[in-house]
Amino acid sequence: MSAITQVRNYLIVGGTAGIGKAVGQALVKQGSVVTILGRTQPKDFPEATFIKGDLTLARDAKALGVSVDASKLDTIVFTNGITGPAQRQVTAEGIELDLAVSALSRYAFMDGVLSKTGNQRFGAQRSPESAFKPRVFVWGFPGENMTATVGDLNAEKKYYAADSHHNTVVVNEVLVTYLAERDAGINVYGVKPGLINTGLPTKYAAMYLGSTVAHSIVGPLVNLFIPSPESYAENSVLPIIASPELENQNKALFAPSKAIIPSNPFLVKDGNYQKVLDETLALLKRAYDAKI
Ligand SMILES: NC(=O)c1ccc[n+]([C@@H]2O[C@H](COP(=O)([O-])OP(=O)(O)OC[C@H]3O[C@@H](n4cnc5c(N)ncnc54)[C@H](OP(=O)(O)O)[C@@H]3O)[C@@H](O)[C@H]2O)c1
Repeated sequence: MSAITQVRNYLIVGGTAGIGKAVGQALVKQGSVVTILGRTQPKDFPEATFIKGDLTLARDAKALGVSVDASKLDTIVFTNGITGPAQRQVTAEGIELDLAVSALSRYAFMDGVLSKTGNQRFGAQRSPESAFKPRVFVWGFPGENMTATVGDLNAEKKYYAADSHHNTVVVNEVLVTYLAERDAGINVYGVKPGLINTGLPTKYAAMYLGSTVAHSIVGPLVNLFIPSPESYAENSVLPIIASPELENQNKALFAPSKAIIPSNPFLVKDGNYQKVLDETLALLKRAYDAKI
C-alpha cells in the first residue's frame, strides 16, 4: 500500500498514551497535523494540539464530539479504552465502566460529530487536495471471533471482567458497520493491533490469570517479545492509515498484517449484529437520559 504523500489532519481520541500517541507521533514525523484527546496531556508530544476530555460519561463524550471542529479533519482515530476492573463498576449514568469508556463513548462522540451539518460537517472544509472521504478508524480486537452477552451487555445479571471486555470488542466491531451505514459520506474501518507493549497486555492477562501471575510472569515476557507501540505505528499503521486503496474497503477490519479480517461468525448468526446494535443504542439512550 502507498505511504502518506501529503499533509493530513488527524484527531486521535485516546491519543495521549499507548498506541494512539505512537500513531500520532509517527504521523507528525510524516508531516501530518495531529490533535489528541484524553484526560492527561503527555509531556513528550508537544507537536500535537491537546484537547482535555474525559469520555466516561456518554453525555460528556457527545458534547466533546459536538465541540471539536471536525470540519477540517481528514480522519478520526479511536484508541481510547481501558480493561475491566475485577469488580463491576458503573458510571454515574449506570453503564458498566469498561463498556462505557472503551465502546459506548465512541458511539456518543460520533453522535456529536455527525450532528454537525453544512460547512461544519466532518471533513467539509478539508483541503481540496483530499482525495478520499473522511475516515474513522476504530481500534479494538476484531478477528478473535469473540462473543457478547446479548441481553446483558451491561453485565447487570452477572459480571466477569473478561466477558465484559469481550462485549466491548464486539460492540466496537458493530460500531464500524453502524457508522458506515449511518453516514454514506464517511468511510469506517476497524483495526486489530495484536498485542502491543503499552501496559495493556499485562492488564489483559490480569483479567484471566489474576494480578500476581500477570505482573510477575506475563509482564517481563511482554517486555521481551511484544512490539513497542512506536514500531507498530511505523510498520503496521502508517502503511494503511492514509492509503488510497482503503477508499474501496469501507467497513473493513484490518489484521496486524494489514490483511482483511472476515466477519465475526457470532455477529452474522441469529440476528446478533442487530441485537447487539439495538441493545447498545438503548444503553446509550439510557446513559444520555440518566438523571445525575
Ligand atoms: N495494547 C494492546 O496490546 C492492544 C491489544 C488489542 C487491542 N487494543 C486496543 O487498542 C486501543 C489502544 O490500546 P492501548 O494499548 O494504546 O491503550 P492505553 O495505552 O491504555 O491507552 C488508552 C488511551 O485511552 C485514553 N483513556 C482511557 N480512559 C479514558 C477516559 N475516561 N477518557 C478519555 N480517554 C481515556 C487514555 O488517555 P488518558 O489516560 O490521558 O485519559 C489513553 O490515551 C484500545 O482500544 C485497546 O482495546 C490494544
